[in-house]
Amino acid sequence: MKGIIMSNYVNLTINGAKIKTPKGTSVLDAALEYGICIPHLCHMEDLTPLGACRLCIVEVIENGKSRVTASCTLEAKEGMTVLAHTEKILKARKVIAEMLVAEAPNSRATQDIAVRCGVTKVRFPFRNKSCILCGKCVRVCTEVWRSKSLGFVGRGKDRHVALPFYERPDFCKRCWSCIEICPMKITPCDGPMEIGKEYLCGGCESQLSMAFESPDTCVQCRLGEGFGCIRAKP
Ligand code: FES
Repeated sequence: MKGIIMSNYVNLTINGAKIKTPKGTSVLDAALEYGICIPHLCHMEDLTPLGACRLCIVEVIENGKSRVTASCTLEAKEGMTVLAHTEKILKARKVIAEMLVAEAPNSRATQDIAVRCGVTKVRFPFRNKSCILCGKCVRVCTEVWRSKSLGFVGRGKDRHVALPFYERPDFCKRCWSCIEICPMKITPCDGPMEIGKEYLCGGCESQLSMAFESPDTCVQCRLGEGFGCIRAKP
């Protein structure tokens, strides 16, 4: 239509920063691209967002009201105002991180995330799960390798990742990307924990204090992939 110029970009504000991003970009990707770290675990650039871990929650301000939502599944819209690090969000994210590390304490990724979100003590019982249902393996297999050798099975507490009929199919390409990408594959620095003797490692705290020596730069993002501010690429 004459006089109307359609733009392929949208403008939004995240933590006060004015950001221009291509239409269709998620709020999380827009933030990361700009250099604003929003912790995330199940998100991987260019793959379908799953919204499973909830670590990437943010506050969206609309008509004077705020709502809390995952930023990886939220599309950036023109004029949107997003706050990623408010007190409300930091508190909620800390609880999410605490629950995550209680579910699967034997992963350096969950340990790292918990410490970096300020968890010093885990109040929930340790469950020692070997999978946190982040779905990275399923999406890499399906969307990158077009193999569909892995999928989610069951619902609720029975939901898990499995091979078709629990056997490796002939069409599995044996790329092992599913293992490569799994946040559970790296055990805490001291190695696997004994059942009943799980603890919060805290080793990352030294990295964290190093990181905050330069508060103007996003150095903490480079210190631990487990915190999720490094872009995870398939
Ligand atoms: S829910 Fe957004 S990164 Fe996991």
